[in-house]
Amino acid sequence: ESYDMGGHDTYMHKEIAEQAEAVDRVLRGRIDDRFATVHLGGLNLEPGEARRVRRIKILGCGTSYHAGQIGAQLIEELARIPSDAEPASEFRYRNPVVDPDTLYVAVSQSGETYDVLAAVQELKRKGARVLGVVNVVGSAIAREADGGTYVHAGPEVCVVSTKCFTNTVVAFALLALHLGRIRDLSVSDGKRIIEGLRRLPGQIDEILKTEPEIKKLAREYADAKSMLFIGRVRGYPVAREASLKLKEVSYIHAEAYPASELKHGPLALIEPAMPTVAIVPDDDLLEKNRAALEEIKARSGRILAVAHQVQEKADHTIVVPKNEDELDPILMGIPLQLFAYHTALALGRDIDKPRNLAKSVTVE
Ligand code: G6P
Repeated sequence: ESYDMGGHDTYMHKEIAEQAEAVDRVLRGRIDDRFATVHLGGLNLEPGEARRVRRIKILGCGTSYHAGQIGAQLIEELARIPSDAEPASEFRYRNPVVDPDTLYVAVSQSGETYDVLAAVQELKRKGARVLGVVNVVGSAIAREADGGTYVHAGPEVCVVSTKCFTNTVVAFALLALHLGRIRDLSVSDGKRIIEGLRRLPGQIDEILKTEPEIKKLAREYADAKSMLFIGRVRGYPVAREASLKLKEVSYIHAEAYPASELKHGPLALIEPAMPTVAIVPDDDLLEKNRAALEEIKARSGRILAVAHQVQEKADHTIVVPKNEDELDPILMGIPLQLFAYHTALALGRDIDKPRNLAKSVTVE
């Protein structure tokens, strides 16, 4: 590959390390402090149109789909527009009802994923408005969409996506803030989110400094045959993405579940050989999440928590800096990218090119 490795052994490590800089780039020049909003030049959506949107449907594959799930939550929270994300590959095969009041958002790092492109083309044929949240400038999905925003993560070479995931979620936070300020988000909440966004690059660097500790933990858990990842509401898509990351690079089986659903099945799997990674933000669900940790501990499960404070019931906690509740998911997945990386390294995997996977799936 033609990109400079900058002293890193793998592109995955390099790309994880570049995240503060990348987030800085997606924010640059877009914040409007006077109106507590952000400007997204290429959106191509007038305020009047934005006010008439009644639903948002986000379509993507793999990691981009997970970024879209967090994006849907951000849009619901900040703009109060009912939103959800669906794998583009599923959407295009179920003859979906295409509704004129729904705004469709296609999300893709490469901008070339065939299932996403085909979904966009089908939507456009039916007269829908489609925006793109895309990393590669001038890519097929970016060209096909009616407008949208670039993610500005820079080139991503490793097959598994890290910095682009983070930047995509930040791009969704910008879109949510923009839509929110056209609709019902107050000036003070707009300012609160902007301040939170500005804190992200520094907080990402703080997280990256804990790498030696995460490396130790990864070695400790690398003998697991299978791992459970749990989170609730904001933490759930973070758990899903972390579980995908681990299985992609380390080939350890991993499954993500909402912490609230533990008692409806996964508790049966808990035993010392089946560790759980739990996303435990300091938000209004903290006590609920703690109760889930207790349930797991009572069944002798090993627990690694990612939290804003040390969790007593966990065997280990990776403590991450707190941001605004809505923006916490952007930070909480980052230590688990390093966890997946160091697990794969300990197991001697081909980190940048995991078996059977491709960076961009441009065929059906
Ligand atoms: C492939 C890659 C994933 C990626 C997905 C979607 O499966 O291995 O890392 O998340 O495609 O790619 P896109 O370029 O559309 O984000």
